[in-house]
Amino acid sequence: MTDLTVTLGRGLTLKNPVMVASGTFGYGDEVADLLDYSELGGLVTKSISLEPRDGHPPPRICETPAGMLNAIGWANMGVEAFCRDNLPFLAGLRTAVFVSVAGSSQAEYAHVIEAVERSALEIAGYEINISCPHVDKGGLEFGVSPEETEKLTSRLRAATERYLMVKLSPNVTDIGEIAQAAERGGADAVSAINTVIGMELDPATGIFKVQTGLCGLSGPAIRPIALANVYKVSQAVSIPVVGMGGIMSVEDVVRFIRVGAQAVQIGTANYRDPRIGLQIARELPGYLAKIEAPGLEEIRGSAH
Ligand SMILES: Cc1cc2nc3c(=O)[nH]c(=O)nc-3n(C[C@H](O)[C@H](O)[C@H](O)COP(=O)(O)O)c2cc1C
Repeated sequence: MTDLTVTLGRGLTLKNPVMVASGTFGYGDEVADLLDYSELGGLVTKSISLEPRDGHPPPRICETPAGMLNAIGWANMGVEAFCRDNLPFLAGLRTAVFVSVAGSSQAEYAHVIEAVERSALEIAGYEINISCPHVDKGGLEFGVSPEETEKLTSRLRAATERYLMVKLSPNVTDIGEIAQAAERGGADAVSAINTVIGMELDPATGIFKVQTGLCGLSGPAIRPIALANVYKVSQAVSIPVVGMGGIMSVEDVVRFIRVGAQAVQIGTANYRDPRIGLQIARELPGYLAKIEAPGLEEIRGSAH
């Protein structure tokens, strides 16, 4: 049997490289009846902020020719309720769980992590969302500046011994520079990409399909953009890169591994079938055999 385990550093090993992406799996428990989480490499929660947030008014999502647009606006229950109501379930899962952290200031990001740490529940670590394109304050504000990225990362590094992954935006001039800033700040890994800024409207009425107008595009439409960004990031840093953007199949996973990803996350495809991550993980050994690759290590970064 092909060894699919993936080493991410800081003592963290995933049983396979397929994780599910933030915001596309809710708090992790909505689909509990549908799948065996222990077959997933890992799970990232939706982004959690210090206070509860209603998010943006509807409509918040819309389908596009090869993907979807969203502007959820970090709708979430806030860290206190999350730690009380959801974290115990997540901590019991036999997969690597990452809490996605959002904030509108450095202190807010830190307070979210401190609250999770206080709960003393076992999780693998955190994914820091500095890359959300559709919130007024925070999110991308940090993710477009190398200085802010480094400062925020080192502040959060001091707040936890657990795994710290910083999620990058493609909506920047030089994603490699931001990735390096996260690495300097002490990140264990970077993940890329968050959604690409997009927009859709009705030609007859001029009304936006997503209420905020500017919003985030995801799904197969962004896969080539994501591959190019993961390629650039993996050239820029020596920490692991977790790739995502438009993954729909086992072939897509292998594309990301070949441009340098250590592991991958699946987002939009979960809306079609929340079991897609498991299916892809199951198909991976067969596909590697078909292309005569002994394992992931042998093909990782082969495109470079
Ligand atoms: C409806 C929706 C909600 C999302 N919410 C979050 C979120 O809360 N935090 C975050 O970091 N990314 C969020 N994302 C971005 C995804 O995690 C992922 O980075 C992006 O969609 C690209 O991957 P995909 O094309 O496989 O969906 C969201 C994406 C979608 C479609």
